[in-house]
Amino acid sequence: EQIEKGGYEHFMLKEIFEQPKSIHDTMRGRLLVEEGIIKMAGIWDHVERFKNANRIIIIACGTSWHAGLIGEYLIEEYARIPVEVEYASEFRYRNPIITDKDVVIAISQSGETADTMAALKLAKEKGAFIYGICNVVDSSIARITDAGSYTHAGPEIGVASTKAFTAQLTILTLIAFKLGKHNGNLGNADFMSLISELDAIPKKIEEVLNTTHELVQNIAKDFINATNFLYLGRGYNYPAALEGALKLKEISYIHAEGYPAAEMKHGPIALIDENMPIVIIAPKKGHYDKIVSNVQEIKARKGKVIAVVNKGDQQVSAMADYVIEIPETSECFSPIVASVPLQLLAYYIAVYRGANVDQPRNLAKSVTVE
Ligand code: AGP
Repeated sequence: EQIEKGGYEHFMLKEIFEQPKSIHDTMRGRLLVEEGIIKMAGIWDHVERFKNANRIIIIACGTSWHAGLIGEYLIEEYARIPVEVEYASEFRYRNPIITDKDVVIAISQSGETADTMAALKLAKEKGAFIYGICNVVDSSIARITDAGSYTHAGPEIGVASTKAFTAQLTILTLIAFKLGKHNGNLGNADFMSLISELDAIPKKIEEVLNTTHELVQNIAKDFINATNFLYLGRGYNYPAALEGALKLKEISYIHAEGYPAAEMKHGPIALIDENMPIVIIAPKKGHYDKIVSNVQEIKARKGKVIAVVNKGDQQVSAMADYVIEIPETSECFSPIVASVPLQLLAYYIAVYRGANVDQPRNLAKSVTVE
């Protein structure tokens, strides 16, 4: 096992550090920047099905569901196809309206999640075209879908999903750009600039790992006795906030909630006092000014702000108690980059609390029962 961990203390840390490579592997053979194309046979062979879809329904659980929410932002923004995102466990039991004009995308690292599998079977019976985004090759979900794309992130052993999540985001980004280019919603110049930016994401992740690892480790030490955390983000980073909170809960057993930052005033603001740590994802692109005022509201109530901002940030950084800098990207890539320090934060808080990071209590890597 020590050998498999490759010198890291836990699989989770190894998998966090593998992300420059795993994202690269997800894009390998698919993103051909010089030719200016995205090659995805699973999409291309059925592109008319996607193009003529009434809507795309994404079904998943847990972290994969968070990836699905970001997929909704991506596909609606770049391909202009309506998207709905559903928890598989809710979808399967609520007699959903599904027609043969719908495309259902299931996202699952393991490809074995019972609720996701059952929801897919239901969609298939109703005539929808079903597409899988799985990490485990030849898994049950990969086998029952009409087509799909593997994430190729490599085996994920830590129960808390890290590299599979960023690989799922990478696939969803490729799908959104490919469909948008095909149906004419994403013009050539924008497509070219977005794909070259995507190509550089592994390098940016590497930079984030190098520049934030030690810093986040130190920040974590200050929060080992916290009992609650709030994670806030807007737009693409709202689901990134949900995912950051889930990571913390599942491995450190600290209660954490993710919220769209603007929803704070509709309830969670009542929780804020000097004992409440609040992680704010505030990159330059994406509602930055609005986030600045959210941070002002938090500081007025003495909340402890840990801000994830772009390099050289001034306004949020001046108010925050802790600042984690990440490189600037187009908004659509920011959840991939911002997720990395949040994974590290959850990891180190859990380690310092003496928790079993790779196998947290009550959790299984794949949930094959409902
Ligand atoms: C992730 O950290 C969790 N352990 C969990 O939420 C997981 O994402 C969920 O069970 C779905 O699993 P899947 O992607 O294998 O379907």
